[in-house]
Amino acid sequence: MLGSHTYLEFQPTGYLHMASLQSSPAWKALKAHHKKYAGLHMRDLFDADENRFEDFSLCRGGLFLDYSKNRVTKETMSLLIDLAKAADVEGWRRDMVAGEPINTTEDRAALHVALRNPLDHAPMQAMGEDVMPDVRALRIKMRGTADAIRSGAWTGATGSAIAAIVHIGTGGSHLGPEMVTQSLAPVHQSAPGGPAMHFISNVDGVQITTALDGLTPETTLFIVASKTFTTEETITNARTAKAWLVDALGSDAVANHFIAVSGNTQAVADFGIPPDNTFDLWDWVGGRYSVWSAIGLPIAIALGMDVFEEFLAGAHDMDRHFQDAPLDANMPVILGLIGVWNTDFLGSPALAILPYDEGLRGLPDYLRQLEMESNGKALDTKGRPVEVGTAPVIFGDPGTRGQHAFYQALHQGRQLIACDFIAPMESRHTTGSHHDRLLANFLAQTEALMKGRTEAEAVAAMEDQGVASAEMKGQLPHRIFEGNRPSNSIVADKFDAFTLGQLIALYEHKVFVQAVVWGINPFDQWGVEWGKELAAQILFEMEPDSYEAFSQEHCSSTLGLIARLKAHKAKTP
Ligand code: F6P
Repeated sequence: MLGSHTYLEFQPTGYLHMASLQSSPAWKALKAHHKKYAGLHMRDLFDADENRFEDFSLCRGGLFLDYSKNRVTKETMSLLIDLAKAADVEGWRRDMVAGEPINTTEDRAALHVALRNPLDHAPMQAMGEDVMPDVRALRIKMRGTADAIRSGAWTGATGSAIAAIVHIGTGGSHLGPEMVTQSLAPVHQSAPGGPAMHFISNVDGVQITTALDGLTPETTLFIVASKTFTTEETITNARTAKAWLVDALGSDAVANHFIAVSGNTQAVADFGIPPDNTFDLWDWVGGRYSVWSAIGLPIAIALGMDVFEEFLAGAHDMDRHFQDAPLDANMPVILGLIGVWNTDFLGSPALAILPYDEGLRGLPDYLRQLEMESNGKALDTKGRPVEVGTAPVIFGDPGTRGQHAFYQALHQGRQLIACDFIAPMESRHTTGSHHDRLLANFLAQTEALMKGRTEAEAVAAMEDQGVASAEMKGQLPHRIFEGNRPSNSIVADKFDAFTLGQLIALYEHKVFVQAVVWGINPFDQWGVEWGKELAAQILFEMEPDSYEAFSQEHCSSTLGLIARLKAHKAKTP
């Protein structure tokens, strides 16, 4: 049964639907709790409880979550769990896995969990239809294609093996494959690898031109990934790629040099890519949840299908944990609720994603789309305003680069910015003391954010450093850190395909938990549409002979800029 996003109030007769989030008893209890303990400092919480680390941490396989460096007590956590229960997280979780149309505005299921379901498991249904036969066929086709390309059995039009893959896609059809491929790519040059990978996601022609300049048509294979196959940027890049190939090898070469991943098979056929080279994408797979589908084909080509299947297995492991673990011992639930607490009660408008792993440099961008496109919404599923903050601004950089860029603001800025630190205990390289130094920085940052530095500590540090007493007074206020800044530490034994799968699924479910609490649909993205429509209209209006009358609908700023562009274009050869 499909749940409804209303809050539940316990009555002697059972749970009854309530009107809104803020008026729910669970929210009010958290508000009162926050008011009562507003002055709490985490230093004191640690001093008062020697088991705080054990009590506020969770482990699932090779993934460990330490949430003790948050401004929460056991009572806070218990009230947050009450909120999750009142929002019926358990019911929504059931509905998701049952393939109910929880993407209400598009009347679709959101069944990405089926993509990582082991093939010998029970059927999974999207709106009543078993999807596992399609998933099984997909895996077989992906393996066949990846193996053929990697072994050299797949040849280009002139009989040469494929040496380079150019993946063309954007948003959910790009970020996952690039991030995962980067994360798991062999560190040492001597490791056996697949073809060189290039990712084209920007309609700025500089990107595709630069990539094509270094490539040979005879040995290049393009993957055009677009669920809709109408995304202007992707189709423009795909047309440029096709023209480049056809110019060198003729139009018959397209069959050997193009693969498509799309739900719009007609548009793919119209583009000229044969059905054998086309991978289907179903409407129950959302774009930003699609790395587990054939959108992940570049991962299988670059690293092998076995690695891709390990990645799926890790995600499935997290799915099982999310479905089976009680709410108070459930990693995605805890992470999601901590996020709600930080955003709506502590007022943190942002979340910094800080991987201490160079391979994970693409993770902040990946999670930015996942969180902000899913939960960056102001209306609930019933079209009513959500009265509290929803998706925080996601940003980040790998440690230690970020430390020399924006950590100043994390430590001493006026805005409270919550942080997720992500680090592997074991590195994929063995070079000198790099990894120990990296991890020492990770640990130091989380502690500094939590503890801060008192006046006495700042004075002692200055004395140790031999700061002249004349300078001490002026420097002292700037050397004091208030601390009490929340962070999670997510530590993996190491980041291999399995733990990376766990990690991504952890964040997917976290986003889902938050959506349920906020009462919003995380699976649509209407906010992106309007800009796309307007861009198509403006492109037309930028033509030299377009009617001025069309342009009158714009504001004077846009009109002025269009006129300036047209004038510049007229002068440019
Ligand atoms: O940015 C909007 C969006 O629709 C994303 O949700 C999606 O991941 C991306 O565009 C690409 O869409 P498509 O796969 O249809 O080209």
